[in-house]
Order: sequence, then structure tokens, then C-alpha cells
Amino acid sequence: MPGNELLEIARSVAEEAGALAARLRREGVEVAATKSSPIDIVTAADRATEELIRRRLAELRPQDGFLGEESGAGSGTSGLTWVVDPIDGTVNYLYDLPNWSVSIAVVEGDPDPVTWTALAGAVHAPALGELFTASVGGGAYVGDRRLHVRDAVPLDRALVATGFHYTAAIRTNQAVVAQPLLGRVRDLRRAGGAAIDLAYVAAGRIDAYFEQGLNPWDQAAGALLVQEAGGIVQGIDGGAPTHRMTIAGQADVVAALRATLVELGA
Ligand code: IPD
Ligand code: CA
Ligand code: CA
Repeated sequence: MPGNELLEIARSVAEEAGALAARLRREGVEVAATKSSPIDIVTAADRATEELIRRRLAELRPQDGFLGEESGAGSGTSGLTWVVDPIDGTVNYLYDLPNWSVSIAVVEGDPDPVTWTALAGAVHAPALGELFTASVGGGAYVGDRRLHVRDAVPLDRALVATGFHYTAAIRTNQAVVAQPLLGRVRDLRRAGGAAIDLAYVAAGRIDAYFEQGLNPWDQAAGALLVQEAGGIVQGIDGGAPTHRMTIAGQADVVAALRATLVELGA
């Protein structure tokens, strides 16, 4: 199936799922359970939204695999896997802050950012009224507007976004890195949703983004957006992003940020 048909599926399912999540948000949201730590939450809406996405993809692409944050993995026979975060930015969603999104991507190969090839993806942010899409070789868009990462700037002029882990010990170390980094960049932003952070890199709204501890579903669609907008996404060693580190932006900015993160012991 050509990439643009996969893209059409990613887009339409993300739109339908975003509409469901937005309606559930209006009806009221409570924490249903906690996961890796007391602040790592799941709501009934996370589960219902993933169920809808999984059901729709099974109807449209029964031969493909699935990897979702809330319902786990299901194998397929096509070599393609849909990597899904039904609500990225769940804490924002809980508090009715608008920075949350549905993130859907389809990848070829194992659903692991180290080895996969992302083919198409969509990040739908209903409360922001924005739908970001990308397909491999086909560019990145918000609506029908083509996206480009910002031009290179020295690191001390770069607006850099990041995120903090749900585990207290890990975020304490992240703060140790963030403290000196603040003196070496224009500023740091922490908006609360990895997929939108990556989409904003693609859109040129921030220069770069880095985060430790991302899972495949946090970055599958967003990393493709960055690449298709002319940027790069790397790990701490300059190879593919891993669970240990994801760094995204214009290539020269990523190189400078990565060197600094290494120096600071990130
Ligand atoms: C989280 C958000 C957050 C990032 C965390 C993610 P969730 O995803 O993207 O910005 O800092 O690393 O786990 O839990 O809201 O799907
Ligand atoms: Ca997430
Ligand atoms: Ca999530």
C-alpha cells in the first residue's frame, strides 16, 4: 500500500480518536489508575480512545501489527506495525490544559525507534485545533501547510523544549542537567506532551527538543514529522534515538545540544 494511503488512515483515525477524546474531556475526566509511579496516570478516556483506534485499524489493516501504550502489542503478518499513544500529555488532559494529542504512526520493522522505518504518522491536538501529518518522502504538514524546522542558531540562541520522567529519582537527575543547561540556551520549555513537542520542532516553533525515557509511542509520529520537516532525531551517541535519550531539531543545533548534554552527564 503506498505511503499516502497509510497516511490517510493515520490521519482519519487520529481525527476520529481526537474527537472522541475531546468529547470525553468535556464530559469530565478522573484518574482511573496509576502506572509506573503515583503521578503516571491513566484515565478511562486513554483506554476508550485506544480501543477505538485499535478497532478501527483492525478493520482497515487487519494484517498489520499494533503497539499501543494502554493495550500493548498485537502481532501482524505484513511487517508493518501501528504505534499508538491514544492521549499523549495525559496530565494536561486531566487538568484541561490544551496541550495533549492523539499520536498514531505506522512503522516498518520491529516497533523500536532504533531500527524501525516510520512510513506515516499523525499527531492530532483537538484542543489546539491542529492536525500534524507526515509520510516518508512526502513532507510534514499542519493541515495543508508544509512544515520546515528552523534554521540553525548557536545553542545560546536556541529555544529548547524538554520533558521530565514520571519517576522521581530520574527527574531529580534531569533537573541536575537542566540547571546548567538553562545558562547555555535561550530558554527551556516544558509543555507536557512529547508528540506536540516534536510537532513544534517540525513546525519551527522551537529550535530543539530532548527527553530521556521516551517510549516508542511517544515519538513514532513526532520523529517522522521532524525528519520530514528537514530535521534530525538522534540518541545520546548520535545514532538512532533510544529509551535513554531522544534529541530532535535542525542538524547543527542537535549536534551542539547533544555535545552539551553529554558534557553535562545527561
Ligand atoms: C508523557 C508526555 C510527557 C513526557 C513523558 C511522556 P503520556 O506521555 O509525553 O510530556 O514528558 O515522558 O510519558 O504519559 O502523557 O502519554
Ligand atoms: Ca506519551
Ligand atoms: Ca499516553
